[in-house]
Amino acid sequence: MIRKKSFYGIAVSLVLAFILLVFPGFKNSANVAGNDTASIDKKVNEILSKMTPEEKVGQMTQVTLAVVSKGPVMNPTMPQQIDLSKLKDAILKYHVGSILNVINHAYTRDHWYQIQEQIQSVASESRLRIPILFGIDAIHGVNYTLGATLFPQEIGMTATWNPSLVEKNAAITAYETRASAIPWVFSPVLGLGRQPAWPRFYETLGEDVFLAKTMGSAIIKGYQGNNISSKYKVASCMKHYMGYSFPLTGKDRTPAWIPEVYLRNYFLPPFEAAVKAGSPTLMINSSIVNGIPVHASHHILTDILRNELHFKGVAVSDWADIEKLYKTYHYASSEKEAVKIAVMAGVDMSMVPYDFSFEKYLTELVKEGQVPMWRINQAVRRILKVKLELGLFDHPFYPEKDYPDFASVASQKENLLSAEESVTLLKNQNNVLPLPKKNIKILVTGFGANSMETLNGGWSYNWQGTQTDKFDKGKNTILKAIQEKIGKENVLYSDGTLFNKSINDQQTLKMAQQADYIVLCLGEMAYAETPGNINDLYLPDNQAKFAKELAETGKPVILVLTEGRPRLISKFAGRMKGIVMAYLPGNQGGNAIANILFGDVNPSGKLPFTYPKYPNSLETYDYSYAEQDEHDYNPQFPFGFGLSYTSFSFSNLKLSADTISGNQKLTISVDVKNTGKREGKEVVQLYIGDLYASIIPPVRQLKGFDKIDLHPGETKTVNFFIDKQDLSFVNANLKRVTEPGTFKITIANLTSNFFVK
Ligand code: BGC
Repeated sequence: MIRKKSFYGIAVSLVLAFILLVFPGFKNSANVAGNDTASIDKKVNEILSKMTPEEKVGQMTQVTLAVVSKGPVMNPTMPQQIDLSKLKDAILKYHVGSILNVINHAYTRDHWYQIQEQIQSVASESRLRIPILFGIDAIHGVNYTLGATLFPQEIGMTATWNPSLVEKNAAITAYETRASAIPWVFSPVLGLGRQPAWPRFYETLGEDVFLAKTMGSAIIKGYQGNNISSKYKVASCMKHYMGYSFPLTGKDRTPAWIPEVYLRNYFLPPFEAAVKAGSPTLMINSSIVNGIPVHASHHILTDILRNELHFKGVAVSDWADIEKLYKTYHYASSEKEAVKIAVMAGVDMSMVPYDFSFEKYLTELVKEGQVPMWRINQAVRRILKVKLELGLFDHPFYPEKDYPDFASVASQKENLLSAEESVTLLKNQNNVLPLPKKNIKILVTGFGANSMETLNGGWSYNWQGTQTDKFDKGKNTILKAIQEKIGKENVLYSDGTLFNKSINDQQTLKMAQQADYIVLCLGEMAYAETPGNINDLYLPDNQAKFAKELAETGKPVILVLTEGRPRLISKFAGRMKGIVMAYLPGNQGGNAIANILFGDVNPSGKLPFTYPKYPNSLETYDYSYAEQDEHDYNPQFPFGFGLSYTSFSFSNLKLSADTISGNQKLTISVDVKNTGKREGKEVVQLYIGDLYASIIPPVRQLKGFDKIDLHPGETKTVNFFIDKQDLSFVNANLKRVTEPGTFKITIANLTSNFFVK
């Protein structure tokens, strides 16, 4: 897509040319970047040796863009303009090393360039000309840049069970982030989605360890490629390390109680995999695990992260979390003590983010000898290293014109494909779907029917995602996509209900009389973090009531859910003829849903979590033998479930050996046949369960998967390779072990046992 360069854009380019002339230091020329570790280390030492204690502490400080912008710090106007004198104060007086985000508005690329030019040119005036590391929450695309490609949220991307698609999307996001003059993204979220009420559930990679490890690593690879100094790549920031996603009550930033053995078996492995995948930065869990705020936990931040995982990068705090140790959590008895505890626990950079207090306290602590210089040097080394690896000294950003493919047609196609592969068909009674395209009338209703907000969720244009309909004007909602598909004249529309209040439902019920089918779009409005807390996992009563009333009309109702977490539908699910789970499918979500409803695309998404039926029955698929009674595990829909318009059969489950020992690998193969009438994709899922173990074993755990495409009648053989390490777990002594004994393999309806010596 060719972007028309506005007058504003030309003006911005002229300003840049001027800055380059006036500030020769703007090009700072470290002449090292990327993977040249030896030269980078040398350069880091060289810079560090010239720095004053104040400059070092400044590098460890991150403030929000609002601090250096015109107006009050929480300025809601749009777009924010840089306040040059505030910016100079931040960088030249307080030596700030990093700036982040926006709060309430997305910017054009031109505006982002203007901001970055101003920031980096002031940085180039500083004594050592150290560039600013700018970070942004680009979590489903560059959601704070207008016009960017907004993909399905992480939970939907995981439902594709397609890591190469996930990697490609991350690569597009990296491109579009750099095209906004930004080199660092606060993504991926690696916390497991095992607490469905948690308002950040949609940011997770689902409930399973193996799936999260695989998808998390794919995202990092897509963002970073082999070299983060590339002008098309960014540094990732894995978050939120660790245990954040599992608050006991489901409310955001409330205590989690996770025994260490459970932390190590479930919550640590995705981070371990991300360290291996080369993520150079990490954001810390904002909350409390086992009574200790993680920002204060030397055990989690240093013993485990540094000494066991050997993470060498930057650990950045989350939003105001050092201050919270004192003000919110009552853990430290003053702000200064909070700074000391956090830095000594292992926090390298503080997302302060509203002022320079961190800097003030830390400088005092250093001068008083309460925080040793070695610890400051260690943190600053890590920060300088990332800046050098990103190539920021030579290129704080690249010219705006270098990104002609920003939001290109190809990226939109990729986005549509992702949304299509994520959408999960959960019920299809008597093959009510796909719907016919001719000679029908369809009633499209529900508050999600004509909304871009409900397709994108939070972190879209603003933090809470409440401006999406304004910025996405002209994009296809579910209603518009259906109208395009079968003609406006064949579509009846009435919203019928708000999120938690009925409106014009009687009128809608009358309309239903004229329809052959009803497409009912329910779910959630957008939210992010704490404002998304709920007291009740059920969908609000008015939605359930409306669904039941529509079903009473006798017309077949197809329920389409756009929601960030599995809101319970058990009060009416039985009366729906079809159920389609779309998660938060992003800007192509409307088109993707219509393509699936009318059969232009064969659904292939699978649930990346267990969809619960009751609020007090929130089990996961890897339950214990003690819970295998159907009263214990009886979800609305199980993990890994998703229907297709064709059918598959599985046969010939074969093992290369019945026993493995030492380093031997076991090859497991299975034949999968498309037994239906149309082409389709199936996710072959390999589960293995240890029959007896010293920590009671889960009945099964996902150990491999492969998404394959099959023509009608076609058979493919899928192979998995397993070794003893894949069968290991952390035991009661916190040691990773593989215990000898019998293991049970399950693939679809086939099972087989093997023995480990
Ligand atoms: C969130 C982080 C986010 C940060 C910056 C925090 O409130 O927990 O995930 O990266 O804000 O916006």
